[in-house]
Amino acid sequence: MRALQTEPQFDGYWFIDVSSRRVERVQELREEFPGCVIDVHLGDCNEILCQIVVPKLPYFSKQRAFVFLDPYGLQVDWETVRELADTKTCDIFVNFSVMGVTRLLPRNQTPMPEVIEQLNKVMGSTDWITQIYREHSEIQLDLFGNPTETGLSRETIPAEWLASLYTEQLKSLFPHVSRPVLMRNSTNSALYALCLASHNQAATKITNDIFKKYERLRNSQR
Ligand SMILES: C[S@@+](CC[C@H](N)C(=O)[O-])C[C@H]1O[C@@H](n2cnc3c(N)ncnc32)[C@H](O)[C@@H]1O
Repeated sequence: MRALQTEPQFDGYWFIDVSSRRVERVQELREEFPGCVIDVHLGDCNEILCQIVVPKLPYFSKQRAFVFLDPYGLQVDWETVRELADTKTCDIFVNFSVMGVTRLLPRNQTPMPEVIEQLNKVMGSTDWITQIYREHSEIQLDLFGNPTETGLSRETIPAEWLASLYTEQLKSLFPHVSRPVLMRNSTNSALYALCLASHNQAATKITNDIFKKYERLRNSQR
């Protein structure tokens, strides 16, 4: 809604969702905003962005796009982020699900290969997993006095750390990346880390300023 209400308008808007109910709702926006060119796609954002949207935005087209990636969990593939970055025409505003990552990490053992694969698909690297489980593991004794290896539990992995891990990864694809701001629920658990990855330095400076104001406001309301 904010994008559609922005003045001056964007030349066009693409909305992508895998849920037909949500897509139906978004279709209605065409009537609410008759002056906007709105394209709605039902399907997996990874396929639609890479196969339909990215090919429409080559660098020589002089078109520029702003892509808001707003999944509930770990649905946006790192490969999609890479393809968007490679266009050099797309900036992304991404809500990265830190909660989705911590939920996948087991409490006291190294994650299973399937989990590592899933995290790799979303974050582009999982070197950090072996790193944290090794660095933070310590030998403790079980009830019978036998040594047990306890890794870093998902409760003790700071959300800030996961967020900065993702933004560091983004820096390998985009020249300018804002710092992340954590989005928390009513019980103060971190759900998402929001950040901007851009081809324009001024954009990240502005975003960092806005994030600072947001955090000041949030802290004053605690
Ligand atoms: C947090 S909501 C987005 C809310 C939306 N930005 C808004 O302001 O109304 C996440 C959405 O992602 C959709 N979704 C989940 N997996 C997806 C995928 N692979 N491709 C496209 N959409 C997906 C869900 O159906 C859901 O509508």
